[in-house]
Amino acid sequence: MKSDCNPILITGSSGLIGSEVVSYFAAHDIRVHGVDNNQREVFFGAAGSTRWNQQRLTKHFSAFTHHELDIRDRDDVLGLIQSLRPAAIVHTAAQPSHDRAAAIPFDDFDTNAVGTLNLLEAARRFCPEAPFVHMSTNKVYGDAPNQLPLVELATRWEFGGAPWTEGIPESFTIDQSKHSLFGASKVAADVMVQEYGRYFGMPTCCLRGGCLTGPSHSGVELHGILGYLIKCNLESRPYTVFGHKAKQVRDNIHAWDVASFIAAPRIAEVYNLGGGKANSISMMEAFRLIESISGKPMIYQYSETAREGDHIVYYSDLRKMQTHFPGWRVTRDLATIFQEIHDSWQERQLSLT
Ligand SMILES: NC(=O)c1ccc[n+]([C@@H]2O[C@H](COP(=O)([O-])OP(=O)(O)OC[C@H]3O[C@@H](n4cnc5c(N)ncnc54)[C@H](O)[C@@H]3O)[C@@H](O)[C@H]2O)c1
Repeated sequence: MKSDCNPILITGSSGLIGSEVVSYFAAHDIRVHGVDNNQREVFFGAAGSTRWNQQRLTKHFSAFTHHELDIRDRDDVLGLIQSLRPAAIVHTAAQPSHDRAAAIPFDDFDTNAVGTLNLLEAARRFCPEAPFVHMSTNKVYGDAPNQLPLVELATRWEFGGAPWTEGIPESFTIDQSKHSLFGASKVAADVMVQEYGRYFGMPTCCLRGGCLTGPSHSGVELHGILGYLIKCNLESRPYTVFGHKAKQVRDNIHAWDVASFIAAPRIAEVYNLGGGKANSISMMEAFRLIESISGKPMIYQYSETAREGDHIVYYSDLRKMQTHFPGWRVTRDLATIFQEIHDSWQERQLSLT
């Protein structure tokens, strides 16, 4: 799929995952069109702005074209997809925060659920053969993973044993648990993406992300946990941990490993895409790791109140992905990911002084 073919369309192209996917394809000399209206700044304030990343992509890649378009605008979405007839669509635009959603339920649902429907229907009308890859989330499982038997270790919570020793599989229930409004709007999108695959025979695919991370995140307190944590450490600012004795566990995957998977998705499928057990870390362990890299103490305060619907332990069971795509693997371990984010924040700090 070189420059003479129809382009690839990436929504949320200025965000963490979107920008990595743009870079991945544009570096392979493939024409990429991106859609982003910097809504992240509206959701999270100036620190959430992704404009810097859009400008970086435009500067670096001649194969990249930016469209300042809101995916909630149905006519604009239909018009763009009709004119581009993209060879593939990678949909990463979203209201991505669990906690922010409760304050902005209409914006959250209109972006996550209705925006996804706008794109799916446009794809069905104008490019039904094009693979449609949707970034979904582990929050579609709601807080049901918290009902599993857990054990408390010195620095982390862990799953109590089989059959969860490798993490949460795609067959896990998405029903009858607390999701947060964000989780619910993402369930709507996830099921709609699957339905356009099953009902219309379109090549759609859902990737249910664990913690996706990397230096291109405009990390803020409500989203982009590692980026924000490392920024707090570097700036000696207090980080607030909410509940679970700071032993809650997440699996982290670098955005590049997500982008490299998107290059060859199997169609009409659902995958859990995270760092897996090997890249899982608790808050307490994350504090120690960043301290060992930066040499600065992590300042934090503890709130007894856990976030609504928050997972106590979550890591992705990667076995389905690894069986379907034996060539794919997580290439960046936690130490590498932390170091990269640390270095990039330091560079950004230096460029401001
Ligand atoms: N980052 C994570 O830890 C994580 C984890 C699981 C799933 N996901 C999912 O992956 C996807 C990408 O996440 P991310 O971390 O890159 O988010 P991000 O906020 O960094 O990027 C999303 C981009 O979409 C844009 N956007 C939002 N609403 C828009 C709209 N209405 N029209 C056009 N553009 C709009 C934003 O401006 C932003 O640049 C999301 O669907 C998210 O739910 C992320």
